[in-house]
Formats: sequence, structure tokens, C-alpha cells
Amino acid sequence: MVKLGVNIDHSATLRQARYRGVAPDSTIIVEPNPIEIALLAERGGADSITAHLREDRRHIVDDDIRNLRKKIATKLNLEMACSDDVLKVALEIVPDYACLVPENREEITTEGGLDLIQNKDKTARVVEALSAKGVICSIFIDPNPQQIEIAKEIGAPTIELHTGAYANAWGNDVQKKIELERLAKASEFAKSIGLTVNSGHGINYQNVGELLQVADFNELNIGHTIISRALYVGIEKAVAEMKSLLK
Ligand code: PXP
Repeated sequence: MVKLGVNIDHSATLRQARYRGVAPDSTIIVEPNPIEIALLAERGGADSITAHLREDRRHIVDDDIRNLRKKIATKLNLEMACSDDVLKVALEIVPDYACLVPENREEITTEGGLDLIQNKDKTARVVEALSAKGVICSIFIDPNPQQIEIAKEIGAPTIELHTGAYANAWGNDVQKKIELERLAKASEFAKSIGLTVNSGHGINYQNVGELLQVADFNELNIGHTIISRALYVGIEKAVAEMKSLLK
């Protein structure tokens, strides 16, 4: 069965919308609490919890990562850019997995895969530093064979294929088919050279089924749709519903 990584960033987005800057020892009720969200997601069947510690700390903050590390029972997947500042936190906290992503301050959420042609040496150094601590590194890349080959070359055991183009092609059957074929081929190639293949971005309750038909992914990382659905049915049920679609 495909594993489900639940990205909890947007629970922190909601918290920060009101409580950014409240001191950790304040007696104010700071809500929602992303750690509680993670624990409920685990009850719903999450196999791992993903949190993106962005350089601008716009949603998840350092203490969230520390508390997740202490409290969750599943795996902690730290999404991060290859910046010295965040690498320092990662080396202190030692998540189970690290997913290396590009970061652009203007973007609302991660927009594209990490370009390993442009960023090979820097990414290789981060993979080496994290791997030395036992962190399993994944690189978030577009479904492109050249990117996959570089991920392998620099020693990442896992890649996460960017599914955003597939999600954005919804409603355009011709483009959707092109994107699904691209993902299928990329996944097959990556597996043939020994990589573990995850995927993520823009996956939702509607498009997950067709994605699962074209490739055998190890794990899907899903955030926005689950946090949105949680507003209607609660996080535990929202996760359980997605989990049942992965069976
Ligand atoms: N995987 C990666 C690497 C991401 O950057 C994101 C978005 O933060 C996701 C998965 C989850 O995407 P979504 O929120 O669209 O499900």
C-alpha cells in the first residue's frame, strides 16, 4: 500500500495569521496547534508527518519541528531549502527524512522542483551532511530523467516527483495524459536506477486515483486538500478518507 505523508504546514499558516510573535511562555490560547494536528493525523492513519521549515518561518517555526520530533510516533519528514540556517536546525533535530526543495520568498507554496543542474554542488553538500547523521534524504524534482540522474549521482536515496503539472492539467484530458505519462516514465526510470520514488504537490481527493494507476509510488505527500477537508470533517477523518483512497 502506498504510504501517506501528511503535510501540516497550513495548520501553522492559520495559527500564524493571528498569533505570530506570541511568546512561547504566553498564557494566551494559541490555536490551532500543529502538533495536535499531527497527532490526530497519525490517528487517522498518516504514515509520516511533513513540515516545511521555510527560511522566512512564515508558518512552521523551529519549535514546531522540535516538538514534532519529540511527540509524533510516525516518521518526521522535514521539508527544507538547502540553506545553512535551516540545515543547522535539521542537523540539531535529526528528522527521519529530509525533503530538499527550492524556495522562493515570493511564492505562496513550493512552485517547482529543485533544479539539480543549477544547484548540484550545493545540494550534494546538504545531502552529504544530512546523510552522515542518518537522515534519509529525498529531493523534490520535476519528472525529468536528467534531474533524476543527478539525484542519484549526488547520493540521495529517494526522490519526490513534483505532481503539480498533473494537478494543474485537471480538466484538460490531453495535457493530463501527457503529465501522467511523464510521471509514469520518470518513476519507472528512477526505480530502475535504485531510487525510492515519492510524489507530491497538488494531489487531492479527486485526482489521486488516476495518479495511483500510472505508477507505484512509495509515499504521497499531501497537505492542502487534507487540511481543507479537515475544516469540514476534522483532521482525523480527512486523513482516514485519503488513506482509504490509497488502498
Ligand atoms: N511535497 C512538497 C515537496 C511540497 O513542497 C508540498 C507543498 O508544500 C507538498 C508535497 C504538498 O503539496 P499540497 O499542499 O499541494 O498537497
